[in-house]
Amino acid sequence: MNPFIQGLPKAELHLHIEGTLEPAMMFEFAKRNQIELPYASVEEIQSAYNFDDLQSFLNLYYQGSQVLKTEQDYYELTWAYLQKAADQNVRHTEIFFDPQSHTQRGIEFETVYKGIYQALVDAQAKLDMSFQLILSFLRDLSAEEAMETLKTALPYKDTIVAVGLDSAEQGNPPSKFQKVFEAAQAEGFLTVSHAGEEGPPEYIWEAINLLGVARIDHGVRSLEDPNLINYLTEKQIPLTVCPLSNVELKVFNSMAEHNLKKLLDRGLCVTVNSDDPSYFGGYVAENYQAAADALNLNQTELYQLAKNSFKASFLSPENKQKLIDELDEYVAAKSLRLTS
Ligand code: HPA
Ligand code: ZN
Repeated sequence: MNPFIQGLPKAELHLHIEGTLEPAMMFEFAKRNQIELPYASVEEIQSAYNFDDLQSFLNLYYQGSQVLKTEQDYYELTWAYLQKAADQNVRHTEIFFDPQSHTQRGIEFETVYKGIYQALVDAQAKLDMSFQLILSFLRDLSAEEAMETLKTALPYKDTIVAVGLDSAEQGNPPSKFQKVFEAAQAEGFLTVSHAGEEGPPEYIWEAINLLGVARIDHGVRSLEDPNLINYLTEKQIPLTVCPLSNVELKVFNSMAEHNLKKLLDRGLCVTVNSDDPSYFGGYVAENYQAAADALNLNQTELYQLAKNSFKASFLSPENKQKLIDELDEYVAAKSLRLTS
């Protein structure tokens, strides 16, 4: 790992907490909750992580999530992620959780929420890392089920900044959830949506026009639509890009073919994130590193990506500025000459 990347103050804005379940932890939780796993070893799990597309990943991701049962499990899962993120100088994190993948199995929303939230509060105190929490609806389930989930979350709305949309994208357009997102906005939630990961640019337009999103998660297929690129650039609507995820799920055939640098060069507010680090082979710094290696990103571009991560966050303007100042000091201390 390049020490410049490791130490770069950064925010992570696209991270599914269920996607941080490392194989060893999966075994530990399965044992303690008496759940049978279809794997005999950590190595067997790792060799199963060989994906053709988003759905082939989601099948294993939901299967993995089933080992999570108690508030303690959710706490330990989240705490383990936060420690890794702190080691990579993640100064602020905005994490997704998928309540439906747990409530569908009879786990209470409150159990999931409390474990995750307590770990985040502890990280703020012990690791000096700020956070936001984003509730994500599973878009392959019905809009009615999403609405039910929203209602369940209302008692916790002061600590959940936004709602999002994840899971199987193709055939589940943002328009399916327009009413749910309107209801969420009326309750004060911000909105984000996965769009243009596997789905077409039209889904990105729908997320903007029908769901009122503040950011697009992934959005890499935006490059197919010049009008959309112009719009995203003009409005500076951020994209939370996840390079290793995109390569592992065959959105791009290789990192050298990833369009991250093209998007950055076009002036979009692009950020780098890890999505599901335990499944895709790296946390956020490994994502910066893999992109930097394959796309020859220089330190000015890495700085811009980190700066974008703070700009695109749901922090207050004052807190954004504090972290951008910290980033500027980091760069100044390294006596870097940033090129324009
Ligand atoms: N896309 C859609 N759904 C997901 C993802 C993703 O990258 N990660 C976890 N759920
Ligand atoms: Zn995602």
